Amino acid sequence: MGLNNLRPATGNGRKLYIETYGCQMNVGDSEIVVSLMQADGYFYTEDIGEADVILINTCSIRDNAEQRIWGRLKEFKRYKRAKPGLLIGVIGCMAERLRESLMEQEQIVDIVAGPDSYRDLSKLAKDAASGTRGVNVMLSTEETYADVSPVRLDKNGVSAFIAIMRGCNNYCTYCVVPYTRGRERSRDPQTIVREARELFDAGYREVTLLGQNVNSYSWNGKGFADLLEMVADINPLLRVRFATPHPKDISDRVLEVMAATPNICKHIHLPAQSGSTRMLEQMNRKYTREWYLDRVAAIRRHMPECAITTDLIAGFCGETPEDHAATLSLMREVGYDFAFMFKYSERPGTQAERTMDDDIPEDVKTQRLNEIIALQNELSLESNRRDVGKRFEVLVEGESKRSSEQLFGRTGQNKVVVFDRGSYKPGDYLTIEITDCSSATLMGRPV
Ligand code: 5AD
Ligand code: SF4
Repeated sequence: MGLNNLRPATGNGRKLYIETYGCQMNVGDSEIVVSLMQADGYFYTEDIGEADVILINTCSIRDNAEQRIWGRLKEFKRYKRAKPGLLIGVIGCMAERLRESLMEQEQIVDIVAGPDSYRDLSKLAKDAASGTRGVNVMLSTEETYADVSPVRLDKNGVSAFIAIMRGCNNYCTYCVVPYTRGRERSRDPQTIVREARELFDAGYREVTLLGQNVNSYSWNGKGFADLLEMVADINPLLRVRFATPHPKDISDRVLEVMAATPNICKHIHLPAQSGSTRMLEQMNRKYTREWYLDRVAAIRRHMPECAITTDLIAGFCGETPEDHAATLSLMREVGYDFAFMFKYSERPGTQAERTMDDDIPEDVKTQRLNEIIALQNELSLESNRRDVGKRFEVLVEGESKRSSEQLFGRTGQNKVVVFDRGSYKPGDYLTIEITDCSSATLMGRPV
């Protein structure tokens, strides 16, 4: 804050609009960008029509994510026609991946800023306004924006994300993230605890600690388990979640801390990607199917009630029908509560793109993905049916999408529960008995 006061107000009250695509890390980054730009004299607006600067925070994880953003950039043309001088900036992973070519391909782009250049954004906007190209895609080994207080854009007021680290060193062969977000680095735990405490004091009741591989969080001898304890210690009424641990090194110590701490939610998102050890090796995941199942067994041993969810990729290079069957059997064996499921999408510059053949035909990828989705629907329904008749502590988040007469909240296991509104409000904790379910939602009544 003190530092920000010394910066010249280059924004001069001009209005900033920002649109965010991709992962939760991007959501958090947009909140940092708004904070930095406000400190430089910009006003944030939710109305694209009145914007002087439009920023689009982008995702490169799969080709369809990038295609959506290209489509959106084309739509921005009419705003630019209506308002000469309007600046359009592409920030985030696509900015990092495509750099200057973004400006050449899409004549309307004025600013390009990668994930580690956000402190430079208002200067880039100034350069662009005076006709020079506003490009900065330098990656850093140190930037964590630790001192920046994010401006919360999602106004639910109950649940917020906190980035605890940035970048990734794992180089899974299919993944573009290490190239777009750079080397892994951890953020000072004091600044994380301070941010979580400020959120709690402002009425928030849940924080999700974010990193590409939270197990490798490290700061002066403190590891992820220590950080979890520090954040959970702030207040028993503050729920703590985290994403994403890597199966290769989720430790028993983290599981012990989770089991011993009531306000750390009993949910682990453990991306498997494939159930075939041969595929896992091709993906450079550094674990086998057996290792993964051993970690699942350890989770169940420490916390029998813990939800386990995952990410799965269908149709990676060289995937045989047997490899695919191994993914299906892993899903059954674990009995996932929920999964994000994707078709493999070759990304330029990754090791898979450089050294492997994207040889699974599109229709086979689609068919395998559909089988994975159908099985997960069954597993999710089974998982929800097991909850009917049980009681859960639910944190109320807001109005149900389907009816203003109902509210929704989440269990510690991260399942959505819908119930009659009563006189409850977001931020309340309720004990709810589950009375019914679909594969996506639990229905219940407060007791
Ligand atoms: N193709 C398909 N899915 C991918 N993911 C990452 N890279 C790719 C890709 N090239 C998925 C992984 C990861 C999630 C965030 O996105 O499952 O865990
Ligand atoms: Fe990508 Fe693997 Fe890093 Fe996750 S751990 S961001 S999948 S390289």
